[in-house]
Amino acid sequence: MVPPPINGDTPPSGRLAGRVAVVTGASSGIGYAVALELAAAGAAVLATGRDRAALSRLAGAAAHRGLAVRVHPAEITAAAGRERLVETARNQLGDISILVHSAGVYHSGPMSLASLSDLDDQYAVNLRAPYALTQLLLPDLTRTAGDIIFVNSTQGLAASPEVGQYAATKHALRAIADSLRAELGSKGPRVCTILPGRTATAMQKRVFELEGRDWDPEGLMQPEDVAAMVLSVLELPRRAEVTDIVMRPARKVS
Ligand SMILES: NC(=O)c1ccc[n+]([C@@H]2O[C@H](COP(=O)([O-])OP(=O)(O)OC[C@H]3O[C@@H](n4cnc5c(N)ncnc54)[C@H](OP(=O)(O)O)[C@@H]3O)[C@@H](O)[C@H]2O)c1
Repeated sequence: MVPPPINGDTPPSGRLAGRVAVVTGASSGIGYAVALELAAAGAAVLATGRDRAALSRLAGAAAHRGLAVRVHPAEITAAAGRERLVETARNQLGDISILVHSAGVYHSGPMSLASLSDLDDQYAVNLRAPYALTQLLLPDLTRTAGDIIFVNSTQGLAASPEVGQYAATKHALRAIADSLRAELGSKGPRVCTILPGRTATAMQKRVFELEGRDWDPEGLMQPEDVAAMVLSVLELPRRAEVTDIVMRPARKVS
């Protein structure tokens, strides 16, 4: 189904025209950039996060560029939050054909000190929520032969010291993506894992603080770089499926 124009605007053009995307973690960082990039490519986007003010800024930034991004605040670790999100997306935009999981949280610390509540928090946001949201949206994504993108991390490939909890959730997220892809075969949506290294976002700024480094965003990838990669994966003809993409800053941080 082609989504209706928003506020009577002219129908969208662009290579993702006619597609409906749900983007989590869109109030900040990578998800924010992905929401704008997909809207610029013509997709009807429902962007979510918890921070209402940040979501309003996203909608405003989109409008400023002549784009329409709908926003819906949701706590994605809560079943009710996920259900309302899906209902809103279906009611406002129609069958969802793109799901980008960018919401995530990061905690670090040596295992001797790391708290179990940090582990639970990362499990809930980084793994359980995307799993459950994917379950809810699988009927739409299958009907539309759509795409699921999991924003993972290079920590999902190899775990650094003191990041065991975060890395474990990202390793598990990759396992879920791989299993789902194999399970769906050629009938279902394409499933892609993107594994970025350090990207200049609020999360990475906190990582720098925790590591006692001076914040150096220019030396890192920008959220728009990851968003551009998401778009190229989505724009590939359906005969091609990108399974995994590793990205890292060209300038190395020691
Ligand atoms: N930045 C990096 O260097 C880097 C590297 C590798 C991988 N990643 C991954 O990339 C993804 C995006 O990270 P980022 O750097 O863009 O981080 P960010 O700027 O901190 O954004 C995180 C997003 O997750 C959302 N979120 C967190 N908990 C949530 C919850 N319980 N319910 C709903 N939304 C929630 C936040 O929304 P609210 O604050 O509005 O709730 C925010 O929009 C994450 O999965 C992260 O692990 C980042």
